[in-house]
Amino acid sequence: MLSKLNVVILAAGKGSRMYSETPKVLHELAGTSLVEHVIAAAQNLNPDNITLVLGHQADELEAHLAGRGFNFALQKEQKGTAHAVEQALPFLDDEAHALILYGDVPLTKTASLEKLLALCDKSAMAVLTSDVKNPEGLGRIIRDGSGNIKAIVEEKDTDDTQKNITEINTGIMAFPVKKLKQWLPKIKNNNSQNEYYLTDIVSLALEDEGQVKTSFCADEYEAYGINNMLQLASLEKIYQYQQASKFMLKGVKIIDPSRFDVRGEVNISADVKIDINVILEGKVDIEKNVKIGANCILKNCTIQEGTEIYPNTLIEESEVGKNCKVGPFARIRPGTELKNDAKIGNFVETKKVLIGRGSKINHLSYIGDSELGEKVNVGAGTITCNYDGVNKFKTKIGNNVFIGSNTALVAPLIISDGATIGAGSTITKDVKADQLALTRTQQNNIDGWKRPGKK
Ligand code: UD1
Ligand code: CA
Repeated sequence: MLSKLNVVILAAGKGSRMYSETPKVLHELAGTSLVEHVIAAAQNLNPDNITLVLGHQADELEAHLAGRGFNFALQKEQKGTAHAVEQALPFLDDEAHALILYGDVPLTKTASLEKLLALCDKSAMAVLTSDVKNPEGLGRIIRDGSGNIKAIVEEKDTDDTQKNITEINTGIMAFPVKKLKQWLPKIKNNNSQNEYYLTDIVSLALEDEGQVKTSFCADEYEAYGINNMLQLASLEKIYQYQQASKFMLKGVKIIDPSRFDVRGEVNISADVKIDINVILEGKVDIEKNVKIGANCILKNCTIQEGTEIYPNTLIEESEVGKNCKVGPFARIRPGTELKNDAKIGNFVETKKVLIGRGSKINHLSYIGDSELGEKVNVGAGTITCNYDGVNKFKTKIGNNVFIGSNTALVAPLIISDGATIGAGSTITKDVKADQLALTRTQQNNIDGWKRPGKK
């Protein structure tokens, strides 16, 4: 165990190959910015502090990350990775180890970082390496006859044999801060890019300590950095496949893992069936025996056991009880709570409603700011008129109420247990228990009616 840990995240680079006005590390992978992925990995290690080195669009990034206890070091000119780390030195504790992470390498596992840190001792530095199919653009790990690391050579400075090496520098390194402070100022910029390379620290550490330790990360993608939109999309695909695999291996039936997206913190029980093109965002809990149809988006919600969500349904910040049926084409907006056995059908929008056990809103309705009791039947085309243009009002509907089709319920309104509302009504006054309320005029049938002729 290390006594103290300081994490440094490098994020000053321009990201010019993204061709975007958004800072590179704020581009999202699985709905979370690249730098947030890196911060999350760092936080899993419980470090004593985290310092972000910012340069390009520093203000924007700082605004994004402010108020969370991070240190910000400014690197005005991007003179290389060693120069970037140097800017963070004032925030580092002499008694600590420093772990260097890159803001554009989002999927490094905490376990790999822990393994790397376990190698560190009072004097030695450690480098995380990986074996990749295509090492183009990356620093190569050069080893001696006995397999010890000798140096890291940047692609642009490699010779032909070195180019064929597939073991690469992930960029992730750990140092005792005291040593880092001695070695960094000795790094020179006499290379093809005239940059101060952090990788040159390997030979300085070898001269001083006679050893540099390396650790290998298990999965190639852990080392992938994002430089362009293509790499971002490839890594997204890898991430999503991993998420799908994790669930499938625990008994979730995902019809096509290549058409399944998780963008948050998701729990899915065994025996859940998920059809194609389903997106799960934020915090989502799906209990056993739930079925989710094609093209559904579920965001910050709970779906309890046995419920079926039919295709093309959107659910946001809501709770769906057991054995409910929702959709197809339903829009369940924030604050909706469905009790067990409730049914929401096609083209129904709900917002801030409590829908009691066994109640049904089967077709073409808007129900907002309302409370419905048990076994209520809401007919097609029912609208709660909850808004007068300025204020919102509530509709309260008791148990066993029947609301005829094409009804406007003008809130505030209380409709008590067992009441019936005739189809086509505009209800503006409370209805007592078991009353029938009707607002349309009596139908008048006229015999032998002649339609107007053309003049
Ligand atoms: C770097 C490594 C390379 C490694 C690769 C892994 C060096 C010299 N090279 O190369 O061995 O295989 O990462 O992805 O370290 N940054 C700054 N300030 C700077 C320069 C860079 O903050 O002056 C930041 C960038 O924003 C980025 C990270 O450091 O987050 C890496 O920089 P980048 O220019 O992408 O380095 P690579 O050429 O990829
Ligand atoms: Ca890079």
